[in-house]
Amino acid sequence: MLREACRVVKRGRGILIPVSDSFRDVAVEAALQAGAFLRSRFGARHDISYKGSPTNLVTEMDRGAETIILDAIHARFPGHAVLAEESGARSGTEPYRWIVDPLDGTTNFLHGIPHFAISIGLQREGTLIAGVIYNPANEELYTAERGKGTFLNDQRLRVAGRRKLNECVIGCGLPHLGRGDLELSRIELTEIQERVAGLRRFGAASLDFAFVAAGRLDGYWERNLQPWDIAAGQIILREAGGIVSGIAGDDDPLKTGNVICGNEFVHAELVKILKPLGK
Ligand code: IPD
Ligand code: CA
Ligand code: CA
Repeated sequence: MLREACRVVKRGRGILIPVSDSFRDVAVEAALQAGAFLRSRFGARHDISYKGSPTNLVTEMDRGAETIILDAIHARFPGHAVLAEESGARSGTEPYRWIVDPLDGTTNFLHGIPHFAISIGLQREGTLIAGVIYNPANEELYTAERGKGTFLNDQRLRVAGRRKLNECVIGCGLPHLGRGDLELSRIELTEIQERVAGLRRFGAASLDFAFVAAGRLDGYWERNLQPWDIAAGQIILREAGGIVSGIAGDDDPLKTGNVICGNEFVHAELVKILKPLGK
């Protein structure tokens, strides 16, 4: 149906780019364009500067990718608001807001680790209605629209069905130099580690959500994230049948910056363990 409604352009390894004014399609087009830009300079040397702390890196690639994405969005939807990691907030005249991380996993990108992504979420009056996450290194494109499910390229996704934590592989974030939450993180790791089949720290929050949506990870938790790390992942996870909340179990990760997700059983188990350890 999508193909009938719009012009379709074929690019890269068989990825179809529908050119239309649908929100999802505009986000896909923006992500693929920015992804081609990032891929073209992956493995090259980059101009690094620091935002506030010695580990909060930004490069010309983060800024360049953001410009590509915002130009693509504003060309179609000039009245929409934006919250983007590198350029901040821009107000709009319509009830839509795009939340953009142009390069999630900058540290991986700079170290030649092919695990980084573009993350684009869209809210209407504060409710997430679409999300796109794209890893240009392996051309995995995750998309979701409210009520229409989540897809990895053209394959429908569903979260894994495991119910016992001792069978689960769980993703997490790890605070590093310049972050103040090391002690709590150690306590959380100790508690989770001894209950699960495996722990993973991949280094791109958006892809952690996407991996839970794809059933590759059974669950994921992380603290102190930003809205652009979370927005697209949240709808991609929910549309794949997953549950996502803050550490309290019923709070909004976009407000708290803290995230727990998984299927309903894994989510509940993680909340039971993590909630008493700290807000
Ligand atoms: C980072 C990644 C990482 C998470 C950090 C984020 P960035 O995003 O998502 O996995 O642990 O908290 O800041 O800075 O590479 O866009
Ligand atoms: Ca990020
Ligand atoms: Ca980023």
